[in-house]
Amino acid sequence: MITEYDTVTREVRAKAKSMCSPERFEHILRVERLAKRLSSIHGIDSSGVGLAAVSHDMFRDQAEDELMRLAISFGIDMTEMERVAPVLLHGKVAALYLKEEYGVDGDVFQAVYWHVSGIPGMSTTGKILMISDIAEEGRDFSEALHIRETAEVDLEKTFVDVIRLKITWAVESDSLLLPETVWTWNELHGGASHVFN
Ligand SMILES: [Fe+2]
Ligand SMILES: [Fe+2]
Repeated sequence: MITEYDTVTREVRAKAKSMCSPERFEHILRVERLAKRLSSIHGIDSSGVGLAAVSHDMFRDQAEDELMRLAISFGIDMTEMERVAPVLLHGKVAALYLKEEYGVDGDVFQAVYWHVSGIPGMSTTGKILMISDIAEEGRDFSEALHIRETAEVDLEKTFVDVIRLKITWAVESDSLLLPETVWTWNELHGGASHVFN
């Protein structure tokens, strides 16, 4: 399986390079680098994490109508927000591309599919991807530096910080919050049991 992932990763990396702007592709490579580093620090198989990282934004620079077309062809049941802002679909489209082309499923599929918003029950692969996406070395704001440091020590706590940051940004910039991000936040805070106990 590891060898299989490595072969797919090489192919997907080349495809991502051909589909993305140079800046986007550099971001993808930096996410891959940090994600693999965090995997080795925490003793997690880095080949699945690496594949999730190289594929997560491969469709990020596609035109809106192309993302919509792909989403429809993959049978994605689009939310109202995705219909209005098709860029939100780039993770789901990438995950379904991986599944269709290479049979990728499980944690890698879930990580790529939900990397924009998060989702309750995220795997460690998904958490490492979201942490690396927000805190790769090209991100030079103070929160990113902090996240890079704490991620080496505590992935779970750092993931809470990532979700907090996404929510804070949305609130501070008067943007919409993706419901899945809120569900993830609530899950990380004990969900309904926390309210009633
Ligand atoms: Fe993305
Ligand atoms: Fe990204």
